[in-house]
Amino acid sequence: MSAVESVLQERRVFHPSSEAVLGATVSGMAAYHALVAEADRDFEGFWARLAREHLAWHTPFTKVLDERDAPFYKWFEDGELNASYNCLDRQIGLGHGEKVAIIFESDDGTVSNVTYRDLYHRVCRLANALRSRGIRKGDRVVIYMPMSVEGITAMHACARIGAIHSVVFGGFSSKSLSERIADIGAVAVITADEQVRGGKTLPLKNIVDEALAMELCGAVNTVIVYRRTGGTVGWHANRDVWMHDLVAAQSDTCEPEWVSAEHPLFVLYTSGSTGKPKGVQHSTGGYLLWAALTMKWTFDIRPDDVFWCTADIGWITGHTYITYGPTAVGATQVVFEGIPTYPHAGRFWEMIQKHKATIFYTAPTAIRSLVKAAEADISTHPKCFDLSSLRILGTVGEPINPETWIWYREHVGGGRCPVIDTFWQTETGGHVIAPLPGATPLVPGSCTLPMPGIHAAIVDETGHELPNGQGGALVIKRPWPSMIRTIWGDRARFKASYFPDELGGKLYLAGDGAIRDRATGYFTITGRTDDVLNVSGHRLGTMEIESALVANPIVAEAAVVSRPDETTGEAIVAFVVLKRTWPTGEEGARIANELRVWVAKEIGPIAKPREIRFGENLPKTRSGKIMRRLLRSLAKGESITQDVSTLENPSILDQFGTSA
Ligand code: PRX
Repeated sequence: MSAVESVLQERRVFHPSSEAVLGATVSGMAAYHALVAEADRDFEGFWARLAREHLAWHTPFTKVLDERDAPFYKWFEDGELNASYNCLDRQIGLGHGEKVAIIFESDDGTVSNVTYRDLYHRVCRLANALRSRGIRKGDRVVIYMPMSVEGITAMHACARIGAIHSVVFGGFSSKSLSERIADIGAVAVITADEQVRGGKTLPLKNIVDEALAMELCGAVNTVIVYRRTGGTVGWHANRDVWMHDLVAAQSDTCEPEWVSAEHPLFVLYTSGSTGKPKGVQHSTGGYLLWAALTMKWTFDIRPDDVFWCTADIGWITGHTYITYGPTAVGATQVVFEGIPTYPHAGRFWEMIQKHKATIFYTAPTAIRSLVKAAEADISTHPKCFDLSSLRILGTVGEPINPETWIWYREHVGGGRCPVIDTFWQTETGGHVIAPLPGATPLVPGSCTLPMPGIHAAIVDETGHELPNGQGGALVIKRPWPSMIRTIWGDRARFKASYFPDELGGKLYLAGDGAIRDRATGYFTITGRTDDVLNVSGHRLGTMEIESALVANPIVAEAAVVSRPDETTGEAIVAFVVLKRTWPTGEEGARIANELRVWVAKEIGPIAKPREIRFGENLPKTRSGKIMRRLLRSLAKGESITQDVSTLENPSILDQFGTSA
């Protein structure tokens, strides 16, 4: 059953309770419509009002939106501010210095609290330390860190001195790390000796050493190492320095670098349908505004809330809803080092109980795997824990199927908490289509309506808007403050990827298919329309995995597709042609395994194909194009309905029909 069919079967509507409406930041649908109308009436005035109300400006902006170089839009450009100042100094100024900013729980369950004042001093010391190593405004710093207070501190420290951070997820291989370091031209890397997750360690520092030994990383002259485990690490005396040694001598205050609102706050690499991962560049002002605003609108954050987003700082969700959003609004948040299934699959529920979390934000894949775990071992079921502190549940990263939505609402949310399905992307900076907990009636499987000020629509291949009920391409018709500014170092690719000429060059193309409900206009996302895969909420390009496979000397050709998977959303299936005859039986299984390990080394374990199938050649059209639709059918185990008369060697369908 497709996502759309399954959504259509779930017709129940869940209205917000009167309690949820009362006192909500956006209280009731009339309030939502009023905001939408305000943005329609005076688009720039709307954003100007919000930017003045929600951010502290060192120099006020005089111009809101500059469209002269569209689609390279500029927001609040002559205004000056600092992101770290906005998140930390401002909270202290408001009297929140002793408020807990971070409740950190390590993999083994040890808990430590960090107040806003503590965090401010940690950030200042590290910012001074970065300056002491010669790092200045505009320099790039790669952060390859575990989930930790130090990781968040490192991001804020960069922001404080105007350095541009680029966080690389700790699960990426040395090769992926090296490519990102080279592309961004980093001068420093901040890392840890080791990462600890699920009782296992991963030698981050050694991976950094491997990455830096590769080509084109020559600009890096500083590696700052946070000692997490005390494990053995290699050392380059001129380059490497322990974080604790470096910060020990530093002052615990640090004058922030005031930057233009358009100064890049960070670059985060993400997968596209072609080529290497692209460096998505975000601004300081517009990005931070949206991080703060969506905390208030989508999560209705209040002073006593305990917010918990389970993402990693290596992804955009961790940037916006761990590092910047919660601190920008002075919230208390839980930060977790570990994984949901260690030491048992009730860990999330146990932690909600322990920390009295009120807002919980996670990925559908995590929920689906915990549903399964609870079925297998009832002691890990949410009902075995006191989750009465919760008031709002959120999901992100992939479509949530209605069954999972209902389970989440009933078993985790006790039937009381709204489930907020937030649609957004690395490129959008924050939520763009999502319900508001005190306003929007919810329909399982739908991310409902655009945020105020976001002009989302569905269009055909030529950019014409389609009526409700007709599926098409999801676009955003007007710029918004937290949108991607460019792809680092590649303006042409930015324009071609997101503002393609085929759609008229003015619409932001999300890359997802969507359909709106005929009556309500609610959006349902039907999945990517390009060659981007979504495995457990992680975004991967088919091309990247194919390139990794063909980089292996025994592989002649490879094509990668996905098939639906009950738990991970999608699973990767690779069709591989070897330079020698195609292997079968045990030999096939052995080579498939070798190739899976190879891909993990080339990209990272998240990119490992679930299945590898071998054949003598790939199915291609007369013009030599790989017949991906055919491969998708084979991956799903469907009977072949496509025209295969052009195939030179029809027997490959049998060869590829089964996995090695
Ligand atoms: O396909 C959409 C899916 O995730 C993609 C963006 O991935 P990434 O940039 O890694 O950001 C993930 C976290 C924001 C989208 O193009 N996606 C994200 N949220 C949803 C979703 N698909 C359906 N429903 C969602 N709520």
